[in-house]
Amino acid sequence: MKKACVIGYPIAHSRSPIIHNYWLKHYGLDGLYEKREVKPEALAYFLTNLKVEGYVGCNVTIPHKEAAIASVAHIDEIVRKTGSLNTVYFEDGELCATSTDGEGFYRNVQAAFPDIQLAGKKAIVLGAGGAARAIIERLIRAGAEVRILNRTPARAQELASLFGSQAKAINLDRFVTESSNTALLVNTTSQGMKGQSGPELELSALPKTAVVADIVYVPLKTNFLKQAEVHGLRTIGGLGMLLHQAVVGFEKWFGVRPEVTPELYQMVANDVARG
Ligand code: ATR
Repeated sequence: MKKACVIGYPIAHSRSPIIHNYWLKHYGLDGLYEKREVKPEALAYFLTNLKVEGYVGCNVTIPHKEAAIASVAHIDEIVRKTGSLNTVYFEDGELCATSTDGEGFYRNVQAAFPDIQLAGKKAIVLGAGGAARAIIERLIRAGAEVRILNRTPARAQELASLFGSQAKAINLDRFVTESSNTALLVNTTSQGMKGQSGPELELSALPKTAVVADIVYVPLKTNFLKQAEVHGLRTIGGLGMLLHQAVVGFEKWFGVRPEVTPELYQMVANDVARG
């Protein structure tokens, strides 16, 4: 039997086992996906001994996404650019890592709105933390002109400087002006979690074709997305990103590229609703 796991500290909240064990059953594979609580001081030992522990790979979540880089043999270009990883696997017996958060975000948006054109269009990213960095890296590969708006402008500037001319930091007073020709607006901050009010922005200048996304998925529809709907804009929540980011790891570990089905979405959504 092939086994994979998710490591974090704490780890009890992780919904990754629901996703991967659903796919294992769905595709009739002899495998298991577990949750493992790993304290920061035990991280390097755990990763170095991943095979001995019986795993073909693992997901890595908070607070280990940056620190884990030191314990793998190979990182790809995405990890190098984003400074964090979330998926560890073996290739030719060596421990390798990638980050699938940006890809998960991108595929989720593409799956919901196949007509969305990002190349040469503006994408406004709210926030300048780790999640923003992962999403910006993917949006830039899609050819978008990224604008970063953050509560602390210096962090937005610092992040923009990592990505060259395709990313620029903007201040709040530029938001309305920048809204024209914007294909995507995404909230990557934790604002709006658990029913708190989300970012408050003047959304009326966004083109009606724009997609407004939130990476928060508790609640499934944030106040930010509700506000966007009032303006007649298309919206997408964060749960699909969680499902799509899992696809890459599952394929590497178990050899089948799984599908994100409405049934899977509903199953995880029900778990989120249960709290
Ligand atoms: P993550 O790695 O999950 O993205 P992070 O690195 O802590 O988390 O980043 C959180 C982001 O959410 C930051 O951009 C933060 O803004 P600051 O850089 O000004 O701290 C933003 N954020 C969190 N709470 C916020 C709030 N109440 N209002 C506005 N922005 C907020």
